[in-house]
Amino acid sequence: MQACSSSDAPLSKRLDGKVALITGGASGIGEATAKLFLRHGAKVVIADIQDNLGHSLCQSLNSSDKNNNDDISYVHCDVTNDKDVETAVNAAVSRHGKLDILFSNAGITGRSDCSNSITAIDSGDLKRVFEVNVFGAFYAAKHAAKVMIPRKKGSIVFTASIASVSNAGWAHPYAASKNAVVGLMKNLCVELGKHGIRVNCVSPYAVGTPMLTRAMRMEKEKAEEIYLEAANLKGVVLKEKDVAEATLFLASDESKYVSGVNLVVDGGYTTTNSSSKQAFTKFSFNV
Ligand SMILES: NC(=O)c1ccc[n+]([C@@H]2O[C@H](COP(=O)([O-])OP(=O)(O)OC[C@H]3O[C@@H](n4cnc5c(N)ncnc54)[C@H](O)[C@@H]3O)[C@@H](O)[C@H]2O)c1
Repeated sequence: MQACSSSDAPLSKRLDGKVALITGGASGIGEATAKLFLRHGAKVVIADIQDNLGHSLCQSLNSSDKNNNDDISYVHCDVTNDKDVETAVNAAVSRHGKLDILFSNAGITGRSDCSNSITAIDSGDLKRVFEVNVFGAFYAAKHAAKVMIPRKKGSIVFTASIASVSNAGWAHPYAASKNAVVGLMKNLCVELGKHGIRVNCVSPYAVGTPMLTRAMRMEKEKAEEIYLEAANLKGVVLKEKDVAEATLFLASDESKYVSGVNLVVDGGYTTTNSSSKQAFTKFSFNV
């Protein structure tokens, strides 16, 4: 008998019986997390604005012989719209009876040119980035908390970014928005801890998702090559699935006493500071 590889058959279903809502779940990190949650036994509702992509993802996963028809479903939800987010949370509860996990992950970079000076900030761009990344996170947490508080349990995970820890070269609005998400997470950890609800962030280094390749205006492979070169941890390319695995840990009961954490998935990138090394190189000085 052939042994199953860990990539298609988890040894134990770490989310058995749980219900998860994932914003921005039609693509990239959200999509990979939806697939992983599903494999670990969760009922998953993905909430996004890319309706065709969301529906076809659910259709293909539900038609697999490993899943039932309603294991994963789609709901249209623009996270900048409070009412849409409420509808998405209610959809998860009415389809599956409860909500255990919120993965608030929808996000945009906005105009990603990091050379943009603060003096050139465009107010429309700034507003849009905050509406999706920050307001969206607020609305998601607000409506998830309403249904989690009475049950006295739940896990909320936000996707922040390494831009919340150090200057990763992103434009000011994006970096500021991700710092705001971490601030929200810390405050919520205190308020919702009283109700048995854990709140954490996952902060990835660069992943070659549509968001990144759009921002860099290049193919996935090229973007990955550049970020591999810039990485602290050599020989490993960070993939969507790797971020999904970290999120699975935060979502599952394995992290039952972990709250208020910004879990960086960056191979040590934010621990490094290469500026002195660059200066040494410039002045031909070796230590
Ligand atoms: N890719 C990276 O390098 C990277 C690094 C750090 C953090 N992140 C964060 O990861 C998260 C996921 O991004 P990704 O890289 O998977 O990109 P992605 O573009 O593949 O996925 C983002 C998803 O969010 C959805 N979305 C955008 N605006 C929305 C809105 N108003 N309402 C609902 N859904 C909306 C998109 O339709 C898309 O499906 C984002 O919060 C992003 O900031 C990404």
